[in-house]
Amino acid sequence: MTDELVLRAPDNFHVHLRREPMLSLVARATTDVYRRALVMPNTDPPILDADDLVIYRDEIIHATPADFVPLMTIKLTDATTPAVIDAARVAGAVAGKVYPSGVTTGSYGGVSEFGAGSLIDVFMAMRDCGMVLCVHAEMPGVTWSVAEQSFIDDIIPDWIAYVPDLKLVVEHVSSSSAVALVKMAPDTVAATVTPMHLTLTDDDILGYRNHRGRRGLNPHNFCYPMPKTDYDRHTIREAVASGSPKFFAGDDSAPHRYQDKEAPCGCAGVFCAPASLPTYAEVFDELGCLDKLDDFAGRFGAEFYGLPLNEGTIRLVRPVGDAGIVPHYLTSPGRSQSVRCWRAGERLGWIVAREAP
Ligand code: DOR
Ligand code: ZN
Repeated sequence: MTDELVLRAPDNFHVHLRREPMLSLVARATTDVYRRALVMPNTDPPILDADDLVIYRDEIIHATPADFVPLMTIKLTDATTPAVIDAARVAGAVAGKVYPSGVTTGSYGGVSEFGAGSLIDVFMAMRDCGMVLCVHAEMPGVTWSVAEQSFIDDIIPDWIAYVPDLKLVVEHVSSSSAVALVKMAPDTVAATVTPMHLTLTDDDILGYRNHRGRRGLNPHNFCYPMPKTDYDRHTIREAVASGSPKFFAGDDSAPHRYQDKEAPCGCAGVFCAPASLPTYAEVFDELGCLDKLDDFAGRFGAEFYGLPLNEGTIRLVRPVGDAGIVPHYLTSPGRSQSVRCWRAGERLGWIVAREAP
């Protein structure tokens, strides 16, 4: 049994760092592990153009260590133009994100028209200036269990056909339909995979069993797209185990104050950062393909985005004693922000140790 893993310093191609004061509370859980992270733009206020991006990047740089590189994105809306894209690219945007309006946290004011209209001009501008299109692939108005399948079947193939060579990432794949489409599509189409979608099914949210065997709702496993059936989870696990470069790490760590999740209309989003890389390692270990973790977390995403590979390494070891117990909450000094950690109280199979020399 391997007791130590040395990986290339990893990248996280999908994370929500939020704005202050949440940013300072949660960023470290990501920056302690990942050298670069693609930062989602569905903040409050959102990141819609070059000016927003510059302000937000300064906020992140101020709150994070010098060796962490935020990879910036903008949120596309019905009002985004090719000129907005070009300016955002010059300011450093590496991707633009489609949130169908209303489908998830921070998606309001996103895209509401998916046809071959103005959106296609925006996509062409993205392709021409080398920006990646990141997609939250859920169809508005369609129930959660088939919303991704519906978007994958009805929208994405047209986008691929209308704008060939546009790099497109189906974010946080949750269904066998999404996995199948990504596998079959040209090499310009890829997917991020989260620890939640590799380990949970809908039953872990809607029919959760606690350690006493009581059954109920677990809002801290709840995210959009929802984890789905065992078969869906199996296809996602198989995709990463196959070693295909089209599937890479993007943990979708998405913190909310715990009160906002344990609420009558609880927020979607899982704060998985403290357990993110260890959970990936556990899954690859279970699948008997630990040798594939390095590329999944440190190579495939960078190559897809056309970024140089990170220098340096990170070491994972099997924890001894209480070292691998996930804390229950992260709480800010003034206690205004308290976030429940995913897998709170559980013992991780791997933990991050110091950098190898
Ligand atoms: O569950 C989710 N939470 N899905 C998203 O797409 C957004 C995210 C958030 O920002 O909290
Ligand atoms: Zn997300």
